Amino acid sequence: MKAIFSLLLVLALVVIATVGAGAAKMQTIFAYCIPGTAFILFMVGFVCKIVSWAKRPVPFRIPTTGGQQQTLSWIAQNKWDNPSTGPQTFVRMVLEVLTFRSLFRNTKLVLRHDDGKNPIVAYVSAKWLWLFAILFHYGFLIVVIRHMRLFMQPVPMPIAFLDQADGILQILAPTIYISDVLLLSGATLLLLRRFFDAKVRYISLVNDYFPLFLILGVILSGMYMRYIAKVDIMAIKEVILGLLTLNYTVPANIDTSFFVHLFLVSTLLVYIPFSKLMHMGGVFLSPTRNMPNDTRINHYVNPWNNPAVKPHSYESYEDEFRGPMFEAGLPLEKNPEEAA
Ligand code: HEM
Repeated sequence: MKAIFSLLLVLALVVIATVGAGAAKMQTIFAYCIPGTAFILFMVGFVCKIVSWAKRPVPFRIPTTGGQQQTLSWIAQNKWDNPSTGPQTFVRMVLEVLTFRSLFRNTKLVLRHDDGKNPIVAYVSAKWLWLFAILFHYGFLIVVIRHMRLFMQPVPMPIAFLDQADGILQILAPTIYISDVLLLSGATLLLLRRFFDAKVRYISLVNDYFPLFLILGVILSGMYMRYIAKVDIMAIKEVILGLLTLNYTVPANIDTSFFVHLFLVSTLLVYIPFSKLMHMGGVFLSPTRNMPNDTRINHYVNPWNNPAVKPHSYESYEDEFRGPMFEAGLPLEKNPEEAA
């Protein structure tokens, strides 16, 4: 139901843009007003969210660790999974952001049977999610960078080069971009995982399906424009440059699919600051990732400690209650004779 509802929402957006920019001829609204407003809302929403997260106090070191911490000199430290200094943490962050290292370590719980047919609960490696995520995110990144050619005249060399390299297979005309295939397969596989993995389906919400369908809508409308409708890129560039030069005229020969694409992108932009898609900014502010694990090297005092409440160490606790504890037979660090 949640998936169907999300799909219907995205289809409704497609219908709104098709009718609005097509039959109702509101091209200027769909080419300029909506994308412009969406971009402003995205920027303001994104910055507000990041500032509000950055202001949250984090009084303790709470990194999630996945390896040996720094200890005695003859025990090797796992510096990337359990960093103890700023530079080590920086490397950990870079690897996390660029290679999704923590996802690579993903495991799943399975029930196996030993030789005597006794059930054993085991954790096994599960790399599929990592693979789908890498395909999707790198595909997305390349497509977005490549889109810069639509916003720049002349097109900068690195972007023209990326465009050429991405179409190097020279299949079909216009040539199929490798990144389009990666992005479409990544997004589809992530969606299928939600449909077919019962555990993931059980916890999936509209907030999970909607962005996937929306992004698939953006991808499919973009691919439709390029490979099927073969839209007039020069006319579209005129629209985009009109936005930058404040000359809001829309050439007549632009296919409606462009307005659908742009409307879905605008919805995505407005949706990002209020959704889980904010992980693109949030990952940098995650205290479980961006802090070194040095609590055994430095002593951190909780700044919220009430000075009126005096600390009570275990030593003084035992001093206070040694007699009754001894009588109750509780283990003690010093028995009454030693303490006397
Ligand atoms: C989240 C942002 C966006 C995504 C993920 C996206 C995705 C795509 C994809 C997958 C394609 C298929 C062909 C290709 O890869 O170039 C495409 C084509 C296209 N997109 Fe986007 N798009 C985005 C934003 C935009 C924006 C903001 C505009 C214009 C203002 C735009 C205009 C176009 C045009 C004109 C094409 C056709 C390109 C061609 O025929 O070569 N897209 N888009």
